[in-house]
Amino acid sequence: MKTILITGASSGIGYQTAELLAKAGNQVFGAARHVNAMDPLKKLGVIPIVMDVTSESSIKNGLQAIIQKAGKIDILINGAGYGSFGAIENVTIAEAKRQFDVNVFGLTALTKLVLPYMKKTTFW
Ligand SMILES: NC(=O)c1ccc[n+]([C@@H]2O[C@H](COP(=O)([O-])OP(=O)(O)OC[C@H]3O[C@@H](n4cnc5c(N)ncnc54)[C@H](OP(=O)(O)O)[C@@H]3O)[C@@H](O)[C@H]2O)c1
Repeated sequence: MKTILITGASSGIGYQTAELLAKAGNQVFGAARHVNAMDPLKKLGVIPIVMDVTSESSIKNGLQAIIQKAGKIDILINGAGYGSFGAIENVTIAEAKRQFDVNVFGLTALTKLVLPYMKKTTFW
């Protein structure tokens, strides 16, 4: 049994992955902003964690809750993200930056904060 953190667990790929890994007997923490969408997953043992990956304080609060409960994180699955599509003349720079904040820098910030826990508890 692994302790797994999955972001984007309120919808789509993250939701389906959380369901699969919980059914396989793992301890799964599902992170997202809209945690109510994970109510059906709670029946499988998935623990919802409120987390906005663009907010460092939100990430830290979420990780603190996980470490308090599980004491470790073995696996991180970065499922949070969204697609914003359009011709360059129609997409604002603000929207383009917002997408990078979620899909690139949010993922990076969370991974940086999770790695020390993974190194300490899983490999050493
Ligand atoms: N589905 C596909 O076939 C496919 C193919 C290629 C690439 N992708 C990419 O893979 C990613 C996930 O796709 P999906 O289909 O699973 O999308 P989805 O169903 O829209 O789910 C997106 C997830 O990301 C979370 N999220 C968005 N912004 C967030 C934020 N600021 N902080 C924390 N969580 C956030 C959402 O949760 P909350 O809104 O509750 O926070 C939701 O759980 C996207 O980037 C998508 O472009 C998908």
